[in-house]
Amino acid sequence: MTFIDVPPSKIAAVVTALEMTAPPPARPLPAASAQFGVRRVEQPALDWYRDLFRRVGTPWLWFSRLRADDASLAAVIHNPAVEISTLTAGGRDEGLLELDFRKPGEVELAFFGVTPELVGRGAGRLLMDAALRRAWAARPRRVWVHTCTLDHPAALAFYQRSGFVPYRRQVEIDDDPRLDGTLPADAAPHVPLIRP
Ligand SMILES: CC(C)(COP(=O)(O)OP(=O)(O)OC[C@H]1O[C@@H](n2cnc3c(N)ncnc32)[C@H](O)[C@@H]1OP(=O)(O)O)[C@@H](O)C(=O)NCCC(=O)NCCS
Repeated sequence: MTFIDVPPSKIAAVVTALEMTAPPPARPLPAASAQFGVRRVEQPALDWYRDLFRRVGTPWLWFSRLRADDASLAAVIHNPAVEISTLTAGGRDEGLLELDFRKPGEVELAFFGVTPELVGRGAGRLLMDAALRRAWAARPRRVWVHTCTLDHPAALAFYQRSGFVPYRRQVEIDDDPRLDGTLPADAAPHVPLIRP
């Protein structure tokens, strides 16, 4: 057995990459999904994007896009080969879907999630339905996504039920985003903060 020490100022996660190489069979949506909508947001404002990213991802320690400066963030989310959509609930933007078409033949679900209040209420299924329709409309060789052990515990099984097949596992180690002010110190209490 091998144990690898993670320095106190770091977080570690096991990342699973999943893919599908053909459109999955259609699955009927739960009736509850009908109360939500999905809206494409072209050239999203950086503040709007960061706010949504935080509201969806803070409980799961999503930080990558929060460390990007304006120019680097705009370079990705305003790229014509990157498509941002939001899940709408009662007129509010409560979910993030980011599809990355930049690599020929592939589509990555780069970010996918809904705000904590909506988890388990049919919103994720609607957003996934929209994601897969749009992704496969581009006729890629494969559509892929990754999720890590810091994400919602239901995410991996949700992706598998959606038709993705796991094909790779990696260990990721990063600076803890709660120690440099990227995220609040009380984010994700299920991942205890270990101060250096
Ligand atoms: C992963 C995630 C997107 C799943 O979304 P979700 O909104 O919980 O998904 P849903 O509620 O639509 O679906 C979950 C299950 O509940 C079922 N369900 C939901 N509402 C239902 C209802 N009212 N009646 C019956 N079934 C219902 C769905 O059918 C689905 O089961 P199935 O896959 O067997 O069909 C969500 O947990 C999330 O956003 N997590 C936070 C961010 C994250 O971790 N993202 C993934 C990392 S990349």
